Amino acid sequence: MTRPTADLQSERPETTSTLLAWYDRNRRDLPWRPRPGDASGHPLTREPSLERELGLDPYRVWVAEVMLIQTQVNTVVPYYRRFLDLFPDVQALAAADLDEVLKLWEGLGYYARARNLHKAAQQIVDVHDGVLPPNRRSLRELPGAGDYVAAAVASIAFGERVLAIDANVRRVLSRLHDLAEPSDAQVRKLGTSLVDCDRPGDVNQALMDLGSTVCTPRNPSCPACPLDEICMARARGTQSQRPGPKRSRARPHYQIAAGIIWRDGQILIAKRPSEGLLGGLWEFPGGKVEPGERLESAMVREVREELGVDVEPRDEIAAIKHSYSHFSITLHAFNCRYLAGEPQALGCQEFAWVKPEDLADFAFPAANRRLIEKIAPSS
Ligand code: ADE
Repeated sequence: MTRPTADLQSERPETTSTLLAWYDRNRRDLPWRPRPGDASGHPLTREPSLERELGLDPYRVWVAEVMLIQTQVNTVVPYYRRFLDLFPDVQALAAADLDEVLKLWEGLGYYARARNLHKAAQQIVDVHDGVLPPNRRSLRELPGAGDYVAAAVASIAFGERVLAIDANVRRVLSRLHDLAEPSDAQVRKLGTSLVDCDRPGDVNQALMDLGSTVCTPRNPSCPACPLDEICMARARGTQSQRPGPKRSRARPHYQIAAGIIWRDGQILIAKRPSEGLLGGLWEFPGGKVEPGERLESAMVREVREELGVDVEPRDEIAAIKHSYSHFSITLHAFNCRYLAGEPQALGCQEFAWVKPEDLADFAFPAANRRLIEKIAPSS
């Protein structure tokens, strides 16, 4: 197969069939993908015939695509299985407590995804009769569903001819056309003709699989690529420079001071406000150290602001480093003696006194989790 030199606008139909043939031979066996011939549809979709044909449950596809945002397939799979065991359909998710959903999500990161998924499930039950909206435009209206999730679900679960642009798809198309920094609009323009077929969801997933197994960011396996012969970057030897490097912004580092506040063998924990970073997760009370402030003073101040109690710092039991997408922290944790004041939820949603062995019942962010390992190993 050779590429006509002037053909920069769209792909030819052969490219779609080449991709699909490759996908049929090489697709990864993933739990949200029905096996060929599997017709286990969900009973509650609007278009049972289409669904039976595709053998797909839109709810399962939606959960998978939300979990896969910014997260590797291998990390997602065990979470996905546990999630589907506990919340097998949209009704079960809508009826769940947010705490339960966050507990299941613990460690997966980007917790707004879990809060939005839960909110969207309730919206689907209340407004859409418990049925996922069957097209990109209406999926896009659900909480947390951006362009990518709406297009991925619309194409995979409902057969809509839309390109789902994630980092893999962008990389494959950038290399195919040897473009250093294509805009979203350019990528969409280049890829849209590929999904103009009767298996758009499989084309999207073929591009995703190709991007993660063959057309990898570093050391792509070009000889194993089905599009090898028409890849312009390959022809020009520029694969490793395509797409160009992302401009990395300097990530600030923050010092956080938190208290392990003991009273009668129990520890005081607080639930973070429902919106914002790590919203709805539990933590050991504390917060950011101000410039020039001592760690212990910051902890005492934060605990007073958050819960209205006075504490006395003792030993620092841990200094834990953790990286988030846009910044990193060192979490300094101090054992504390509880001095005075009945806790009130001043800067948090709620609080609880918990025995160390019961900490495992609450959803904590990763750095706090590592702290728990020190306080109550394997709780
Ligand atoms: N990454 C995001 N969505 C995916 C999917 N459906 N299959 C494989 N990798 C993915």
